Amino acid sequence: MSFIIRRAVRGDAETLSRIAMQTFTETFGHLYPDEDLQDFLRTNYSIEGWMRLLCDDASAVWLLEDDGVAVGYAHAGACGLPYPDATKKDGELKRLYLLPQARNGGCGSRLFETALAWLERDGPRTIWISVWSENLGAQRFYARWGFSKAGEYEFPVGRVRDHEFMFRRDAKRA
Ligand SMILES: CC(C)(COP(=O)(O)OP(=O)(O)OC[C@H]1O[C@@H](n2cnc3c(N)ncnc32)[C@H](O)[C@@H]1OP(=O)(O)O)[C@@H](O)C(=O)NCCC(=O)NCCS
Repeated sequence: MSFIIRRAVRGDAETLSRIAMQTFTETFGHLYPDEDLQDFLRTNYSIEGWMRLLCDDASAVWLLEDDGVAVGYAHAGACGLPYPDATKKDGELKRLYLLPQARNGGCGSRLFETALAWLERDGPRTIWISVWSENLGAQRFYARWGFSKAGEYEFPVGRVRDHEFMFRRDAKRA
C-alpha cells in the first residue's frame, strides 16, 4: 500500500461524493433507517455540494489515496457549529473519514495534521470538531491533539437526531 494525501480540486467532486457516502455508510449507516440515511447522504454529499465547497476559498478538502484510489478524505473550513462563543473566525474540522482498510495505520493522523496546518496557516486560532457522543475512538484521537469537549447539540440525520459533542482547542494554549 502506498498512501498519498493531496489537496482536492474541482475535478474531484464526483470522487468525493462517492467516498463520503461510502465512508459515512460504513461507519454509521447501521444507526439509521435506510430512508433517513439516504436522505442525509443526498442532502450532504451530492456532487453539486462538493463542487460548491471546492470552489469556496474558505474551505479545503484533501483526499487520501492508495495507489491512486480514494480511501479517505478530510474537509476543513470556517466554524459553523451552534456553540454560543464560536464564530466564523474560528476553524472547524468538518469531516475526517477513512475506509476501514485504511484505518489504524497513521493515515488519519497525517490527514488530520494536514487539515490543522491549513486551518492555522495564518497563526493559531480556535478550532472546533463535532463528534458523535458515542464515537469514543475518534474522541480519543482528537484528545491527543489537545481537543476537549466544550458543548453538546443535536445533529439531524434524516428524521433521527444524533447526540453530538462539540470539541474545541483554544488558540491560546500552552
Ligand atoms: C478517526 C480516524 C480518521 C482515525 O484515523 P486512523 O488512521 O485510524 O488513526 P491513526 O492510525 O492515525 O490513529 C489511531 C487512533 O484512531 C482512533 N481510531 C481507530 N479506529 C477508529 C475507529 N474505527 N473509529 C474511530 N476512531 C478510531 C483511535 O483513537 C486510535 O487510537 P487507539 O489506538 O488508542 O485506539 C479513522 O479511524 C476513521 O475514519 N474512523 C471512522 C470515521 C470517524 O469516526 N471519523 C470521525 C468523525 S468525527
